[in-house]
Amino acid sequence: MTSAAAVDMRPIEWADGRVRLLDQTLLPHREVWIELDGCGKVVDAIRQMRIRGAPAIGVAGAYAVALAAAELVEDPQFIAALEKAAAEVRNARPTGANLAQAVDRMLEEARRASSPAAALEALIAEAQAIQDEDESANRAIGRHGAALLPQGCVALTHCNTGALATGGFGTALGVIVTAWRDGRVARVLATETRPFLQGARLTAWELARAGVEASLIADSAAGHVMRTGQVHAVLTGADRIAANGDVANKIGTYSLAVLARENGIPFYVAAPTTTLDPSIASGREIVIEHRPPEEVTDFNGERVAAPGIDALNPAFDVTPHEYVTAIVTERGVVREPYTDGLRRITEDERG
Ligand code: MRU
Repeated sequence: MTSAAAVDMRPIEWADGRVRLLDQTLLPHREVWIELDGCGKVVDAIRQMRIRGAPAIGVAGAYAVALAAAELVEDPQFIAALEKAAAEVRNARPTGANLAQAVDRMLEEARRASSPAAALEALIAEAQAIQDEDESANRAIGRHGAALLPQGCVALTHCNTGALATGGFGTALGVIVTAWRDGRVARVLATETRPFLQGARLTAWELARAGVEASLIADSAAGHVMRTGQVHAVLTGADRIAANGDVANKIGTYSLAVLARENGIPFYVAAPTTTLDPSIASGREIVIEHRPPEEVTDFNGERVAAPGIDALNPAFDVTPHEYVTAIVTERGVVREPYTDGLRRITEDERG
């Protein structure tokens, strides 16, 4: 695992009736894999951000439902009990679309089975299929996205969208690593991504493992590097994309999109179709998760903010679609008008 390039590892797996995951709260200094043997333990791991990133949360949620089925297999009210457990999983983190979608898919699979034992077997296979499909979608996104970038460019990215944030390979970071291997990306600027530091801790770790030339920047340096011509494209992931193309992503994404527009730099969003939410017309309907104020006031468990001050800590923001140059999915690249393009892609998906 330690020698594999970043994009070639998976942050989570099913192993002998347990969920095994790389604890992302301990990275980059400690690579600790934890084994979870109950649905509730996976839900806690999602809440504590031991596994994070919308697609990876979806995969973890699917495995959590499989673990719930194992716990409930003798329950005479199996489906009702599983639905109750699944509701807990679904609510572990609210903003990303992939979690609810994966949980719903798992429940449909359980309802189709002839017995609880058959359901358990089918659910384990279904969760593994959700992870495999996510990784292949991301590899396709990597190819479509890389083709958009000019040779030798500098790409700026935000948060962590690498293999760690997904079932495998990564979304925006998968595009960047693919483009680095093609010579299209010459260098990456990664924002540290306050307050949880997914950029400084996780993206930097993945870029170093992949051998990509990269520098970390303070979030507040983004405007300066864009205005002084040091960035040719901005690429981010997404946690939920509304029918009109509005994009919810890690807090700070909206500011980057506005700065990119102001400086004539393309702003690309890379996400699998499992992140699309055609049920909501616009980003106004997206629930923004608020996380504990200590993530802002404290550093490494120690308070740095002055006593007596509280903190607001929205974990995501919404970028209106007019700031998005293109959305890169495994089914191709979508541009304005997003309502039509995204509808076409979702209809394709339903076959
Ligand atoms: O709070 P997190 O770390 O789960 O947020 C992750 C992000 O916002 C990512 O940029 C997004 O999920 C896309 S990941 C492929």
